[in-house]
Formats: sequence, C-alpha cells, structure tokens
Amino acid sequence: MKVDVLLGLQWGDEGKGKVVDVLTPHYDVVARFQGGPNAGHTLEFEGKKYVLRSIPSGIFQHGQINIIGNGVVLDPILFMEEAESLQQSGVDLKHVLKISKKAHLIMPTHRLLDAAYEKLKGDAKIGTTGKGIGPTYTDKVSRNGLRVGDIFCDFQQRYEMAKKRHVNLLKALSGEDVDVAETEAKWMQAIEYLKQYDIIDSEHVVNKYIAEGKKILCEGAQGSMLDVDFGSYPFVTSSNTVCAGACSGLGVAPGKIGEVYGIFKAYCTRVGSGPFPTELHDETGARIREIGHEYGAVTGRERRCGWIDLVALRYTIMLNGVTQLIMMKSDVLDGFKTVKVCNAYRVNGVETRDFPFDIEHGIEPIYEEMEGWNVDMTGITSPDQFPQQFKDYVAYLERELNVPITIISVGPDRMQTIDLRNNR
Ligand code: GDP
Ligand code: IMO
Ligand code: MG
Repeated sequence: MKVDVLLGLQWGDEGKGKVVDVLTPHYDVVARFQGGPNAGHTLEFEGKKYVLRSIPSGIFQHGQINIIGNGVVLDPILFMEEAESLQQSGVDLKHVLKISKKAHLIMPTHRLLDAAYEKLKGDAKIGTTGKGIGPTYTDKVSRNGLRVGDIFCDFQQRYEMAKKRHVNLLKALSGEDVDVAETEAKWMQAIEYLKQYDIIDSEHVVNKYIAEGKKILCEGAQGSMLDVDFGSYPFVTSSNTVCAGACSGLGVAPGKIGEVYGIFKAYCTRVGSGPFPTELHDETGARIREIGHEYGAVTGRERRCGWIDLVALRYTIMLNGVTQLIMMKSDVLDGFKTVKVCNAYRVNGVETRDFPFDIEHGIEPIYEEMEGWNVDMTGITSPDQFPQQFKDYVAYLERELNVPITIISVGPDRMQTIDLRNNR
C-alpha cells in the first residue's frame, strides 16, 4: 500500500485543510509531517467553520487515526487550546490523535527569539507568524532541541538548560533580560496536558500501518514556495514543505509514496514579506482579496494577491512529482471579465519558462489574457455545469502544466467540491 501526499504548490493557504477533510473518507490515517502552528487550515461544513493549527484535518470524518509526525514542531500551549476547543465542539480527539515522540517542542523562549530576530532584521524582516518556528527548527538542526518524548525523562533539567541558553542569547540580541515565568507556568501545565494523548514511536506505527494495508494521507503545511531549500529564500519557513518532507517527517521510504496531490488557487496569494512576481498592487488585487476573503486564517493579516503563476507552478510540480492537481477558489474569479495567467517571465529582457534563482530582481511576468466565465459557480455540483470559458481555462492549465486537474473547488464548504475523477 502506498502513502499519498497532499501539499500546497504556492505560498501556502491554498485550501489544504478543506481538501484533506474532503478526501479523509478514502483513508484510514491522516498525518501531518512538517510545520507547526504557523499553519492555519480552514474547514467548513454544516454551517460551521474550524481553523486547525497543529492537529491534522482528518479529525472531523469517521474516526480515522490522525498523527502529528516527527517533522512537526509543537507548541504545547497552542496545542492545548486547540484540542480543548475541539473537544468542546464534540470532537473525540483523545481516541483518534497520536503524537510522535520525535516531534520537537516550541518553548516560550523560541517565540521570543523569533520576535528578536525579526526585530534585528528591520526592513528585511521575513514577516513570520511569530510562533517560534525558525528558532525551534534551528535548535533541532543544531542538536539542542527538546522533543515530545523527552517529557518522560529528565525533562525539567533539559528544559532549564535550553531556557538558559535562550535567555543568554536573547540578552545578547536585544540587551534585555527576559522573564518568562508566567508563560512558563502555563507551558508546564500544557506539557502535563499533553501526557493524556497517545505519544508514539510514529515511524514504527506508520510503517506498521503501511504493512497492514492501511491507506495514509499526508497533509502538508505551508506551500512549496515557502520550502527552506527551494522557496524564495530567505523569505521562507524553516521546514521542507515539499514531498520529500513527508518521507523525513514521518519515516516513510521514498518508494512508498503513491499519489502526490498538488493544490493551488486559481490565482496566487502570499502573506509576509518576500518576492511575488505576479503580485497586483492595483484594484484587481484588492478585488481578489475582498472576494476571496484573503486575510490570514490565524493572524488576520492581509494576504497579498496576484494572478496565477505557471512558471512557479511548473517548478513546484517538478519538485514534488505531482500526479494530480487540485484547483481551489475558482469561484473567486467568477465575476471577472477576463482572467490573466502568467506563463513565462522576462528576466532582464530575456523570456524564460524556467524558474530562476532570483525572482526578486529584473522579473517581468508575461501574461496570457483569457475570457472570463461570468457565471456564479458556487452552486455547481457536476462538471457538465461548468461554463465553456471555464472548461477552456482548465484545459489550458492542464496543457501548460502537463498534469490532470482532478478536483475543483467552488466554495469553502465541504460540499462545494467537484471531483472529476469519476466524471471524465
Ligand atoms: P490552507 O492553509 O491551505 O488550509 O488554507 P487556508 O484555510 O489558510 O485558506 C483557504 C481559505 O479559503 C479558507 O478561508 C477556506 O475556507 C477558503 N476556501 C477554500 N476553498 C475555497 C473555494 O473553493 N472557494 C472559496 N471562495 N473559498 C475557499
Ligand atoms: P498554511 O499551512 C501562508 C509564512 C509567513 C512568513 C514565512 C515564515 O496555513 O498554508 P514562519 O512563521 O513559518 O517562520 O514564517 O512563512 N507562512 C505561511 N504563509 N500559509 C502558511 O501556512 C504559512 N506558514 C508560514 O507568513 O512569510
Ligand atoms: Mg492557511
């Protein structure tokens, strides 16, 4: 049995949470493999809306197992808040959620370090989510991190050592003494809370499931353009968001990867700083933002908006070995007379379809302009109801990207999803 992966192909917020929820009935297990509470995955069904941060998006269906993998960084306080709010909504989390012993813990001082590094960068700041993601992954790689499994042995001593190091670092960075006593007390409570959950050797469990023939869906966070190796560095997150991250973030051998679902919006958004070749600074960008409600699921920050970028998409499809494409938020473009698609860049005057090393300087997007469909698609339930102009748009994207689009989303609700796999 192969393990399928669903991941974002742009700069995050593509709609991963919604589609993971929609696909969950076809799986036995849903697993997060990287990122942490920097993610905000929105799900809507039966008139209710949920935003998930660290907990996988497979918890609302029919008792599937949900795993927080070793590649994830977990903030116990935010986890406790998220879990308690879900339990209050009637989700039986304790029986379905398992957490890897090897997931790294975000400490209160990691968040302070995140803020201190951002402040030092001044105008060149990344615009992080402020959740301590970078400093926690830094500690992991520099072999100084604390893991979930550590809470059962010598934990206090290890915590104090790590804290001392952070406090010294903070003093050196900002010249100030920090006092984390209050947050620390809450954090320790949250560590106790964590102990009620099934804390597992996730790589063994995942591979046992594979051997038993269970179907596993891996849920990516962020997007490939935020990958620490391939994204618009340094304006990226600190984990591997590409498909390879599912192998290292869960202990799945590369040969065990099956379908790779690459998810993208019919346009493009980005939150935080960093280059964005097709960004629209005009009324059209503002219009997309308003219609698409493009404000951060967690921070409420305005998302920058622009036209779809096929140069970037071809690049991320290549990196991930995408086998099926999922297009989201097509309905947001319903009222546009024409829609634009960037199919190439002019880099210092030379046209290219290849994604360049530097997308910040000398890049001019080259657009194809296509006729809009001018039909409200939010109520569409089958692909034969799609307007012809929209069908042409989809056919164009499939031709240019060379991968089939198999699911199209026409609204935020679970039901507003058209699965083309049985309909073509
Ligand atoms: P994620 O981080 O990839 O899970 O995406 P977010 O939840 O951060 O952002 C996606 C936003 O778009 C959420 O508010 C969703 O409810 C909403 N959404 C998802 N699919 C659609 C769609 O097809 N149409 C519209 N209009 N909204 C959608
Ligand atoms: P989901 O899973 C969109 C962005 C931040 C910032 C950069 C680094 O909901 O798609 P970090 O806090 O990770 O160090 O921030 O990455 N970022 C996201 N943007 N969606 C996300 O997650 C993001 N997670 C991080 O805005 O630019
Ligand atoms: Mg999001």
